[in-house]
Amino acid sequence: MTAINIVVGSVYGGALQTARAIHAQLASEGHQALVLETPELADLTANNDPVLICTSTTGQGEVPPTLLPLYMNLRDTLPLKPGRPFGVIVLGDSSYGDTFCGAGDLMEEVFHEMAGRKVGDTLRIDALETPDPEVIALPWVREWIAQLP
Ligand SMILES: Cc1cc2nc3c(=O)[nH]c(=O)nc-3n(C[C@H](O)[C@H](O)[C@H](O)COP(=O)(O)O)c2cc1C
Repeated sequence: MTAINIVVGSVYGGALQTARAIHAQLASEGHQALVLETPELADLTANNDPVLICTSTTGQGEVPPTLLPLYMNLRDTLPLKPGRPFGVIVLGDSSYGDTFCGAGDLMEEVFHEMAGRKVGDTLRIDALETPDPEVIALPWVREWIAQLP
């Protein structure tokens, strides 16, 4: 059994709905998971469990307001977590050009700075192509879980 922290950032609810669907799938497969809708630093520093980031992108490649406090705190304090597994699911819209899925890149950067260990390739979900993010997120998560150390 693996305990997963699902760190959510969402403006209009798409990433949150995706995170909840992931949680339901993980639970049905016997994993322990926590959906952190407004994640705080202590949620992550209190344990070494794998982190699954599930965020959308807002502004110009920015992290949603619900995730911004954690992002800023991590960036300011950089609590070292060597080898901590993390994965990234990011929602965006390719019509935004250069800032496509930028929030995922920002989160990945800070987790690398904390010496985390990235598991799997980032899943970028383009709103232009995929109206229902869960449809591709759920099989991705199944593969991601299988790659966890
Ligand atoms: C005001 C606004 C700004 C956005 N900025 C970006 C952006 O810079 N890059 C990107 O890839 N997507 C951008 N998006 C698209 C959202 O990330 C995308 O629609 C996503 O599916 C929304 O997920 P949510 O419902 O969890 O907020 C933006 C959307 C809005 C409404």
